[in-house]
Amino acid sequence: MKQKILLTRNVFPEVVADLSQQFDVDHNISDDIMAPEALRARAQGCVGVMTTIADKIDAAFFDACPSVKVVANIAVGYNNIDVAEASKRGVVVTNTPGVLDDTTADLTFALLMSAARRITETEARLRRGEWKKGFALQQWLGVDVHHAKLGIIGMGRIGQTIARRASGFDMAVSYFNRNRLAPDVESKLNVTYASKETILRESDFVVVMVPYSKDTHHLIGAAELALMKPTAIFVNTARGGVADDVALIAALKEKRIAGAGIDVFENEPAFNKEFLELDNVVLTPHIGSATLATRMNMSKLAAHNLSAALSGKLAPNQVNK
Ligand code: GLV
Repeated sequence: MKQKILLTRNVFPEVVADLSQQFDVDHNISDDIMAPEALRARAQGCVGVMTTIADKIDAAFFDACPSVKVVANIAVGYNNIDVAEASKRGVVVTNTPGVLDDTTADLTFALLMSAARRITETEARLRRGEWKKGFALQQWLGVDVHHAKLGIIGMGRIGQTIARRASGFDMAVSYFNRNRLAPDVESKLNVTYASKETILRESDFVVVMVPYSKDTHHLIGAAELALMKPTAIFVNTARGGVADDVALIAALKEKRIAGAGIDVFENEPAFNKEFLELDNVVLTPHIGSATLATRMNMSKLAAHNLSAALSGKLAPNQVNK
């Protein structure tokens, strides 16, 4: 008899078919987010679960589902999982690093450029029939991306991938990271190490790319936003909660910063609706990794991690070794 696994979301058919050769697969075809109680009920008797960041996998889950031995997150971030509680119980946790770096860096740049050149705002104005003056010289002016100063807070794989894109725009890139990069990596990327405060004070664009944890909770709050230039643009494609959304909304409303590009929010998908009243922010619904190729690769990698760990092998991306 095949062991039972649960895929908490609507995963690609080819990945489900592949896993079905080895496992008895329960698959959430409706794709609705499962409330914690529903998730615990549905995972009964499963040896593994493939999850996304909407699934809260905590002590209560592990207590209620002692048969679960592997949790394979289809995401690079895994702040939805209490890894310490998993480790205590010998449960393997895996993530999907690497395969989404380029795609997420692409979206970061799309938001940065869109906010700089007011693309979504002016498109909305055009659609509403507000384009009356033709090529008005002083209307809808944005700021240049090329030759501007980009500050990246969080210089892991994705931060570095963003820096590589910036070099194509002749941007001057500075970065802050808990651990400074090796000199040869810095010079290859053409980036300068700086304090978080210097980056906030001097950059034209500030991008955060750190994982969410209690240490990075509200890393960008009122005090940090107050350091930024009134012409600067803030971009968050990392995780909701890294920025304090209430403080960010206030800074945008009062034009203490010029704009923002935001893909991730506190309390997704029920984000703070005050964002919708602002025209100096470009908003996307957590689509950083959302291309067909990348979401497919993430799903395949998570499936591979799940199947390896359940076969007693070391999963390639085990986070609690
Ligand atoms: C998505 O946000 C991820 O962590 O992969």
